[in-house]
Amino acid sequence: MSGPTRHMLEIDDLGPSGVADVLALAGRDPATLARTLEGQGVALVFEKPSARTRNSSEMATVALGGHPVYIQGAEVGIDVRETAEDVARTLACFHRVLCARVMDHGTLVRMRDALDAGGVDVPVVNLLSDRAHPCQALADLLTLRQCFGVDGARDRTVAFIGDANNVWRSLALAASMAGIPTRVASPDGYGPSAEDVSLVRSFGGDLTVTDDPAAAADGASALYTDVWTSMGEEQERGARLAAFAGFCIDEALVARARPDAVVLHCLPAHRGEEISAAVVDGAGSVVWQQAANRMHAMRGLLAYVTGHGAP
Ligand code: CP
Ligand code: NVA
Repeated sequence: MSGPTRHMLEIDDLGPSGVADVLALAGRDPATLARTLEGQGVALVFEKPSARTRNSSEMATVALGGHPVYIQGAEVGIDVRETAEDVARTLACFHRVLCARVMDHGTLVRMRDALDAGGVDVPVVNLLSDRAHPCQALADLLTLRQCFGVDGARDRTVAFIGDANNVWRSLALAASMAGIPTRVASPDGYGPSAEDVSLVRSFGGDLTVTDDPAAAADGASALYTDVWTSMGEEQERGARLAAFAGFCIDEALVARARPDAVVLHCLPAHRGEEISAAVVDGAGSVVWQQAANRMHAMRGLLAYVTGHGAP
């Protein structure tokens, strides 16, 4: 591939045109991309559990004619058995793409830098870190466009209620790059940093920050939430349950949104905590469409990082 290696550690690595290309590739007839990874491997390293990300990545690789290899973090022992750099260099000997779900975002940065320094053209793809979940954000954009149309989505406000975490950060950046207005409502201490707010706004997106879930939901077209305690934060669960009281997306909150509002959740969901059972299992919920879109988005992404441009 000519040009720099197309890594994706966070969604803004793609830039607005890269995001548009990935979404266009995601919507393409998979048969037209079936030889993209023919005879090539895709490494899928997981330091944390996964249902959607592992399965969507494996099946997307197969759809592109490639061979996915699932690798548990403990098996390669990043910075235990050998350094993150050496794990990356090793996997790059066998695979066309190196995808990883890591505890520490810095691990992905070190893997990317080691491959770039060695002149190895193997893209590193973030399958979720403590900082970002860009593969999820691509599927979220795809879902919003399916719900509202490509142009229509730009007039629709997405309200994220909960922890301004990895999922929020990638979603807000993706929405900003796509021209979709967003709001985020979090309790004190769990909102976005000033740096995150500036980064999101730097792409031109309209972002409102509040600590009032009702204000965020008022007239919104989409309500989004994620778990209050992310993987790796389990020891904070008690404090977080207390802090997030009142931030559950329930029927009362949904009633404040537009009558045709949709509800998103990256999953896994905790019914009765960040979302009520009636809402996540209700008519406005698009969480399963969103989950299914993980595979389409990943197919588009793998095609893009290995050199496909827009169709
Ligand atoms: N949404 C998401 O990334 O799900 P998994 O953790 O199951 O992969
Ligand atoms: N914020 C969650 C997302 C899980 C898909 C976590 O990091 O655990």
